Amino acid sequence: MTGIDIRHYDHHQAAELRPLLLEVYREIYADSDDAFDDVDRFAEGLDSWSSRPGWSCVVGYDGDSAVGYAYGAPLPEGARWWGGLLTDVPADVVAETGTRTYAFSELMVRRPWRKTGTGRRLHDALLAARTEERATLLVDQDHPKVKALYESWGWQTLGDLRPRLPNAPLFHAMLLPLLN
Ligand SMILES: CC(C)(COP(=O)(O)OP(=O)(O)OC[C@H]1O[C@@H](n2cnc3c(N)ncnc32)[C@H](O)[C@@H]1OP(=O)(O)O)[C@@H](O)C(=O)NCCC(=O)NCCS
Repeated sequence: MTGIDIRHYDHHQAAELRPLLLEVYREIYADSDDAFDDVDRFAEGLDSWSSRPGWSCVVGYDGDSAVGYAYGAPLPEGARWWGGLLTDVPADVVAETGTRTYAFSELMVRRPWRKTGTGRRLHDALLAARTEERATLLVDQDHPKVKALYESWGWQTLGDLRPRLPNAPLFHAMLLPLLN
């Protein structure tokens, strides 16, 4: 589907975008019986991420319909993100400066628009606008196909990570150098 229009947003538009982001999330995760996918937990995470000044978001539109989105924000110094890392890595690998690493927090595409390259376009558009040297994401270890998709987009696995949050699953922590 080539007619997808991608629009960029920052934290100033977060309140205005919030209902749309939650509606798309609710639709995509409607069948999930995983407590971590609960919409209230997602909303709390969204509010926390989107209140950061460095938060950025892209939304894909097919005409007036939002078909998916991606968002993230830079990790602050001493980021809690790495607190749940279970794999031993040298300390400098997880040393954050506030401008080093962009956390690619969410990516989702509504079912009718999947397998058309929309996920890749949203991913590329979000990251192309960043100035950090690298990005990180977490992918659920129960979703090997999504992990393989990220690997095909250049991401490499750093190790195992379980966020210190109730019901958090075990994730692969991944890294991608940004060449911007
Ligand atoms: C993961 C997700 C975002 C991928 O979105 P998507 O829009 O389908 O992604 P793409 O279309 O760019 O790529 C998906 C596949 O379609 C293929 N594809 C891309 N364009 C295509 C086209 N025109 N025709 C056929 N296949 C195509 C890609 O090669 C890729 O193939 P693969 O799975 O065999 O590697 C989507 O499945 C989703 O929202 N899942 C639920 C939420 C989720 O898991 N998010 C990630 C959390 S970490």
